[in-house]
Formats: sequence, structure tokens, C-alpha cells
Amino acid sequence: MFTHKVLETNATLLMIASLIVVAIGGIVEIAPLFYLQNTIEKVEGMRPYSPLELAGRNIYVREGCYVCHSQMVRPFRDEVERYGHYSLAAESMYDHPFQWGSKRTGPDLARVGNRYSDEWHVQHMIDPQSVVPESIMPRYAYLKDTPLRTKDLAAHLKANRAVGVPYTDEMIQNAVTDAVAQANADSEGAEDVANRYPKAQVRDFDGDPTTVTEMDAIIAYLQMLGTLVEFDVYRADQNLR
Ligand code: HEC
Repeated sequence: MFTHKVLETNATLLMIASLIVVAIGGIVEIAPLFYLQNTIEKVEGMRPYSPLELAGRNIYVREGCYVCHSQMVRPFRDEVERYGHYSLAAESMYDHPFQWGSKRTGPDLARVGNRYSDEWHVQHMIDPQSVVPESIMPRYAYLKDTPLRTKDLAAHLKANRAVGVPYTDEMIQNAVTDAVAQANADSEGAEDVANRYPKAQVRDFDGDPTTVTEMDAIIAYLQMLGTLVEFDVYRADQNLR
């Protein structure tokens, strides 16, 4: 008769049996993922970053802002009360790489968009202690003196498209014009940017209309963080289901 003893005293048999059991567990967990169309719930309002926002995001990564700042509001009461609605997976679906972060020396930035004025941001980036005296954030004044490098913008959009961000040919062709136009509300292309990238904020962000600087880009990025999803609509949707 086949008893447990047989299994427990025969190492090979025990290994084969364990493998079978683990494989069943694995299949049960993994197989459904192949049949789900999408593991990220669809959320109204998400769109790819505009070229200027994307440039700002690249500067954010380059400067290591993620070392001190997270971009993920966790679904806990204290976080939601401080920062706003907890982050949805869809909100970082166009982030390559994502900026969730694991350390908060400074506050979470996932919903910092529209919370402060552009002037506040410029001043804060030039000299954080001048607006928040106890701040330990480093100064990034040079961003204001550094013209934004635009020649490789189209390539950045293309690279993002290669990993699944739905940039169209038109968006890629107009990457540089769109970036320059977004930093100047009076420019010819301003309307096109707003059409191609709904809710894009179009204006001179750094207070210097003559040059598109890295400061323009990073503030354009900060000012849009967490502003794309309409949470009133999202909540109403959830209740209907
Ligand atoms: C050494 C850690 C550190 C680094 C690096 C850092 N920050 Fe900060 N940041 C802080 C701290 C601490 C605060 C809170 C005090 C303050 O407002 O200055 C802060 C605050 C902020 C705020 C205000 C957030 C709010 O809700 O009040 C913004 C925006 C910000 N940082 C953006 C950036 C950007 C952009 C970068 C990269 C260019 C960056 N930080 C790099 C530490 C850091």
C-alpha cells in the first residue's frame, strides 16, 4: 500500500512530488494573468507626457530627486489626508522607469501638481531654505541658467514608444516644437500642444520667456503630477459598478 512513509523515505520521489505540488500552485497564480486583458484598471484622463513634461521628468531622474521623494500615495488614512487620493496603478503606466521610490526624506510628490505657484517652485528650486527655512533639500539654481537640450527629445519619445507608450508619429515629429511651444502661451504652437496633450499646462514656467530652460521643464513636470485623473469622475464610476 502507498503510504506517506514511501514518499518520506525516498528523496527522489519526494522531490518529484514537491515539484508537482509547487507547479500546481504556480499555475493557479500565474495562468489567470495570461487571460486578463489588462492588470491595470482603465482610468479616464491618463495620457503620455508632453515632450516638455517628459524632459522635466528626465531631469528629475538625472538629478536623483527620487532619492528623497516618493511618488506613490499609499492607501492609508494619514497619507490620503495629507496628499490626496491614493495612487492608482494607471497613474504610473507611462512611467519608464516608475518613480514610486522607497524613501521619503522630503514629501511624496505624486500629487504636488497645482499645489504651489510656479514662482514658489522657482524660488524653492533656487534656494529651498528661502521658502522653507528648515528644509534640507539641496539647491538646484543652475536649472534656471541651463537651456533645455531639445535635440534628442524626439528620440526620448521614440524610446518610450518602444516600451509601449502610445506616442503617435505626429507627436514624435512635433516633439521639439511642442516642447518650445508649451513654455510660451503666446506661441503659434500653443494650441496644438493643448490638443495633442489634453490638460497640458501651457505657459512660461520659470519667469524667463526668452529661453526654454531646464527649470521650465522640471516645473512643467511637477505642476502636472497627479492632475490628469479626475477623481470625482473616478469615484462616481466606482460607485456605479
Ligand atoms: C536630500 C533630499 C532631497 C533631494 C535630493 C530633493 N529634495 Fe525636494 N524636498 C526635500 C525636503 C526635505 C523637502 C521638504 C522641505 C521643503 O519644502 O523644502 C522637499 C520638498 C520638495 C517639494 C515641495 C513638496 C511639498 O509638497 O511641499 C518639491 C516640489 C520638491 N522637493 C522637489 C524636488 C525636486 C524636483 C528635486 C530634484 C531636482 C528634489 N526635490 C530633490 C528633500 C529633497
